[in-house]
Amino acid sequence: MIFLSAAGLNLKAENLIQNISARTTQSLNGKWNYIIDPYETGYYDYRYNAFDKSQNPGNGAYYLDKKPKNASELIEYSFNTTSTLMVPGDWNSQDDKLLYYEGAIWYRRLFDYKKTDANNRVFVHFGAINYESDIYLNGKKLGKHIGGFTPFNYEITGLLKETENSLVVKVDNKRKREGVPTLNTDWWNYGGITRDVTLLEVAPSFIEDYLVQLKKNSPNEITGFVQLNGNNKSQTVTVQIPELKIKVNATADSAGKAVFSIVNKKIVRWSTENPKLYQVEISCDNDKVTDKIGFRNIETRGTDILLNGKSIFLRGICIHEENALRGGRAYSESDAEMLLNSAKELNCNYVRLAHYPHSENMLRKADEMGILVWEEDPVYWTIQWENPSTFENAKQQLTDVITRDKNRACVIIWSMANETPVSDARNEFLRKLAAHARSLDNTRLISAALEVHGSKNPREKIVEDYFADYVDIVNFNEYVGWYDGTPDKCDQIEWNIKYNKPVMISEFGAGALQGFHGDINARFTEEYQEYLYQKNLAMISKIPQLRGLSPWILYDFRSPKRVLPVIQDGWNRKGLIGENGTKKKAFFVLLDFYKQKEKEYLNK
Ligand code: GCU
Repeated sequence: MIFLSAAGLNLKAENLIQNISARTTQSLNGKWNYIIDPYETGYYDYRYNAFDKSQNPGNGAYYLDKKPKNASELIEYSFNTTSTLMVPGDWNSQDDKLLYYEGAIWYRRLFDYKKTDANNRVFVHFGAINYESDIYLNGKKLGKHIGGFTPFNYEITGLLKETENSLVVKVDNKRKREGVPTLNTDWWNYGGITRDVTLLEVAPSFIEDYLVQLKKNSPNEITGFVQLNGNNKSQTVTVQIPELKIKVNATADSAGKAVFSIVNKKIVRWSTENPKLYQVEISCDNDKVTDKIGFRNIETRGTDILLNGKSIFLRGICIHEENALRGGRAYSESDAEMLLNSAKELNCNYVRLAHYPHSENMLRKADEMGILVWEEDPVYWTIQWENPSTFENAKQQLTDVITRDKNRACVIIWSMANETPVSDARNEFLRKLAAHARSLDNTRLISAALEVHGSKNPREKIVEDYFADYVDIVNFNEYVGWYDGTPDKCDQIEWNIKYNKPVMISEFGAGALQGFHGDINARFTEEYQEYLYQKNLAMISKIPQLRGLSPWILYDFRSPKRVLPVIQDGWNRKGLIGENGTKKKAFFVLLDFYKQKEKEYLNK
């Protein structure tokens, strides 16, 4: 997706820099001044021409962050005197008047920066901004980014001043028909600079990216690459894993890429029981990056999923990137810990991070805690399959999440989509997306949340989907007992699933208001949800290929689609834990089921 500035600058973000937290950094988190701008007055002139496309934008352009030189100069905005929003964070939960706000908001952050070495380069990195963002530094446009859940960075070396740098970001979370996701979703469209903003300083030629993982299906061959960025590309890079006494040198080619592989028989493979992470040190002439990486094998064989060659059952739960207790987007290490600890309390060894890439904190925490992960491209429901820019957008978001998380042992599944209606255009879209994912990473499994359809026989449920031929695991969502009848219907259902592949249920569930009790047939009571779980677990356990599930969902979560007074009030109530953190009865049904499953697979 190419964006050109007034100066004809290609405004696409540079290549993603791997592992920001291991670099020399200065955080720009904290209070940022902001201007709500529903009419985008600070972006377009009254003829609706973008100021940043004009040669002389004048005093209306907010990104210039101007102050009146004297009392008679007309400037109708001021960041200095406006209120502030916390970054990282969504704006919706920070100010009641912004709870439902969808539109543009301008953020401004002033900062000083003194380089440690005059020759060094400086980049600004954003963990994520929802949804569309235009980024400016000291009045110059750095770029435009689309997509609310993946990181991006820009080089600012040439624009940096020692003091009073003005970083201005126009954020717009308006939903778009051609967007990914598109207009219609069942989650809160949190807007804002939702993840960390970081300045990083690197040497003129530095380690931009790297991959250090076990070769597909090899228990002891570590392979990968190191990508250098800078003028001095043809260097020797070194990859060291001190604990394994591994030290391998490789020479980068003229494009700055060095590939390597090494066999080591002492590798303790990462697993859910023993999430072993190794200190990995990657260095070149003037740069060194250290990371914590686990090595594990994941594959399917027939209807089995094998982790390090051993058949595993994925005891999962779905999670939205939200801290229900705070009622806002989750982003921090402690948010990740809170969510994953709740999953651990459910005896989970797996989580489905729905429906978009979650923060890097979540993946690094799952790596440490030994929890397997499904990551998802936000291709949700009915996006514009025929629109080439929609495909490029989905492809870019997938590229960025794979680039960011390819060294995380916990990530085992890349999911292409959720509940997308079968059509030729959709099939082709998903086929191409899966091929792209495999071209970037052939070591992980591909899946998607497919749909179920009925047959003339009311008892029969058929899982048959063109895209199922392109995935490694057949996942589907089913809501027998909630959107489809009542829980007793489960007893009659026969599943017709003709794939000789592992099968998983990526969603089932029911709404229940925590603390609302009543008859098992009374909707929204804890007893109804509990009964539905009992019935569903019994029903799906009859599926011979079943190798895992991730019920919908760990915590109640905000959704503007859920308007039932007293019961929903803007919350989807399918959580096993209420927004107040209290577990519902169904939580314990699933916990018992997972205890059994764990025992069952111990000796497999
Ligand atoms: C769908 C969808 C979820 C949604 C859930 C529900 O299957 O994938 O995003 O929230 O059902 O209806 O609660």
